[in-house]
Amino acid sequence: MDILDIIDKKEKGEKLTKEELQYTIDNYLNGTIKDYQMSAFLTEIDLLGLSDEETINLTDIMLKSGETLDLGFDNIVDKHSTGGVGDKTTIVLAPLVASLGVKVAKMSGRGLGHTGGTIDKLESIEGFKTSMTLEKFKKQVSDINIALVGQMGNLVPADKKTYALRDVTGTVDSIPLIASSIMSKKLASGASSIVIDLKVGSGALVSSLDEAKELASIMVKIGKCYNKKIACVLTNMDEPLGYAVGNSLEVIEAINTLKGKGPKDLTNLVINLGTQMVSMGLNISEKEAEEKVKENLYNGKGYEKMLEWTIAQGGNINSIPVSKNTKIIKAPKDGYISSINALEIGKLSRKLGAGRLTKDDEIDLTVGIVLNHKVGDYVKKGETLLTVFYNEKEITDEEILSSFKFNDSVIEKPKLIIDIIK
Ligand code: URA
Repeated sequence: MDILDIIDKKEKGEKLTKEELQYTIDNYLNGTIKDYQMSAFLTEIDLLGLSDEETINLTDIMLKSGETLDLGFDNIVDKHSTGGVGDKTTIVLAPLVASLGVKVAKMSGRGLGHTGGTIDKLESIEGFKTSMTLEKFKKQVSDINIALVGQMGNLVPADKKTYALRDVTGTVDSIPLIASSIMSKKLASGASSIVIDLKVGSGALVSSLDEAKELASIMVKIGKCYNKKIACVLTNMDEPLGYAVGNSLEVIEAINTLKGKGPKDLTNLVINLGTQMVSMGLNISEKEAEEKVKENLYNGKGYEKMLEWTIAQGGNINSIPVSKNTKIIKAPKDGYISSINALEIGKLSRKLGAGRLTKDDEIDLTVGIVLNHKVGDYVKKGETLLTVFYNEKEITDEEILSSFKFNDSVIEKPKLIIDIIK
């Protein structure tokens, strides 16, 4: 077998056998196949796709390229988001469902996004520790139903190496590569049920609905091959989620949401994803699960679990520093907001220092943007549109205002939950 023949076979549109995929991944990991050859291979997949069978085989090979975690619980529910601007959902959902008896043993990333990943966000709570031994992790899940850390163990090394290459070779947006990357990691981390928040729109990994449905259906198929309960919730990511974008600002919004005082869209998303997680985790109907989720969102039990969780991981919830330097941006005219470009708001937050361009960049947890309005709202000229929290790095009013569009007539509020594929 030879990588050139494999690339050639793919180029001709022929299906690859599991042995050929195994050969490619093994030899890329051991350095025999070079980055430029792997890049040609990934580009062929990006252009021509993979069959479902090839994608399932690739996922299995990636999954078995490293360790897999057995946490010793048989009812762990994991939630994954494909990433979006202002996405602080995990910080609300994890304690909320844990307060209902669902076990959440989660590994999250720092991410190269416009703001940090969940781990960075949690570190904006003073003292919050995001690493611990496997023994402590298991004990915490057993004691209080929830633990969340950065990556542990050598899970899916094949994804680490190929994802880094995809990132610099324009092959991140291939549906079969995304599916095998996400699913191999979810399967390796020991959950029995998986809920995926698949974002669709301008601020998301996948911008078209057709592609999102294709991705959801192959991920569900892969999950079922491993006897996992799995649901993919397709959600709109054309405008930022909630009002806050930036690490500590998002944590504060997440905490307010757990107190029942969150933005409508975030609250709605939490209820929808939480319903799936609780229904799978407790083996109850979605109707019953939804009632339980709403109850603990509004009776303070979800927030109490957040406090317990924060203390268990060394954090002080009363200390979440936010920059004192603020600048208010006002509406330039009267009208209905017809769009707030999530991607642009994300890029501006990163420019303020809230996110990374390369994995070694330092991020400023205290900066970001807090919107006062969402798409569909009516604003009067001079009214506050948003507040910028900044330190050394600044952004201009023009840069921010170019992310907004206004309309004279009424604009319908976008639908957040687009579809649920199971
Ligand atoms: N997130 C992942 O984990 N993998 C991808 O390929 C894309 C997004």
